Amino acid sequence: MLTATRLGAKILQSGGSALDAVIATISTLEDHPLFNAGYGSLLNSEGNVEMDASVMSAEPVSDAMPKRGRKSQQVAEDDYNVTAGAVAVISRVQHPVVLARAVMERSPHILMAGVGAERFARSCGIQLVKPAAMISARARERWRARQQQQAESAAEAAARASMGMEHGTVGAIAIDARGGIAAATSTGGVPGKLFGRVGDSAIIGAGTFAHGLGAASATGQGEAIILTSLCREAVLALAEGSPDAIAREAIGEMIDATGAEAGVIILDRRGRIGYAHNAASMQVARFDPAGGLRHLWLPPIGAVRRQ
Ligand code: GLY
Repeated sequence: MLTATRLGAKILQSGGSALDAVIATISTLEDHPLFNAGYGSLLNSEGNVEMDASVMSAEPVSDAMPKRGRKSQQVAEDDYNVTAGAVAVISRVQHPVVLARAVMERSPHILMAGVGAERFARSCGIQLVKPAAMISARARERWRARQQQQAESAAEAAARASMGMEHGTVGAIAIDARGGIAAATSTGGVPGKLFGRVGDSAIIGAGTFAHGLGAASATGQGEAIILTSLCREAVLALAEGSPDAIAREAIGEMIDATGAEAGVIILDRRGRIGYAHNAASMQVARFDPAGGLRHLWLPPIGAVRRQ
């Protein structure tokens, strides 16, 4: 995680864009079998890999050519141009987040799925791999262990479930020197997911959101994150509070509404960063010019309600 974040930080320090920084960071995490994204993705109930990813960018229009097409949303009060791209249930692309960016920049659409998304990848010059090439030994082992668990008694299964879910979705958020803001998220989904299930990491506003006010990326139980539009709600709330307070409130409200496990990372346009989760664990790497590169292992929060 530190290696991936260092790469993103280097891009920002050398004047690169927030969008390039989050894509490079997530691509690096997608290559590592420890994370539930790209190579290392959890397998679905049938033992196959199906990945989701998304990216969203908010560019100040003074520096960027305004794009007012169907998929652009002009944020009048903040003068940002906002665009997004996402992919769902893909099995043959090494870096799903790179394909999400291609959907954003090279198609008239925002979300593409399955075989059509993979065909689009090929037309963009993104190499397709065999689905088996995206399955790590660790993911296969975890899938087998889960199959065994399902054969256990209900009591044993419940005891295991109370120990917390396995997630490992990866997310990155960044702001660059020109004020460009970006968020990206990538995942293999949740353990035991059904064939064809799409999670929050493919849904703009749920697992990923960027705006003139800031950016957010989420991890955890996708169904709860979609129900609560977690990232969009959190970013829009930045008008009223600090990223840290908003992250806690967003997770608190998600707990109140669904009782599920999730985490969120948020930044605002001043570069302030916040994060909160209620899962078994969540780790964050952060970089800012004053504090440098840091790694944090965050304790979970309880429910915190918005005042
Ligand atoms: N948050 C990842 C998923 O539910 O797919």
